[in-house]
Amino acid sequence: MRDVTLLDIFHHPITQKYVKRSGFAHAIAVAYHAYYLAKEHGEDVDIAAKAGFLHDIGHFTWYRNGKWDYETYRKNDIHAIKGAERAHKLLIRLGENPVTAKTISLAILFHTDSFLPSNEIERTELQKIVKLADEKDEEEGGLHHYRQIDKERAKKSLLRLDAMIDHEITQHDRAAE
Ligand SMILES: [Fe+2]
Repeated sequence: MRDVTLLDIFHHPITQKYVKRSGFAHAIAVAYHAYYLAKEHGEDVDIAAKAGFLHDIGHFTWYRNGKWDYETYRKNDIHAIKGAERAHKLLIRLGENPVTAKTISLAILFHTDSFLPSNEIERTELQKIVKLADEKDEEEGGLHHYRQIDKERAKKSLLRLDAMIDHEITQHDRAAE
């Protein structure tokens, strides 16, 4: 049994405040993409899905005159750094295994190049997966942040993904026996 489920994360007020800001629809879509990619590449599906779900938890809203201000955003954005720290704190509070929490946090830190001086960093398989999962759901002009999902559908979708993760872990454990 996992220490923390996606639904536990979803219900926490920190998630409700910050993941909502960048959009639950996008967060859930990236969690699913990350799950499938991790499954395909033999990586940890639980860690991948959680990192996918939380990857944008560090976003700040850069609005000017009611419109998203890309220039200010590009100049000031540190959402990967803030997200890595915020997600880590949240996961530890929820009782996540500290090594798992660190792995998720680092995948969030490296999910984007936006704050890095160059793209020449070497990512682990899992970090590549989370970055790719995010890119798969990206829409032109940041529209992926505006897609809506109601709370009940969001819950159902996470519950389903939690069940898929549990199933995958059971299969994996059986194969290892
Ligand atoms: Fe994203």
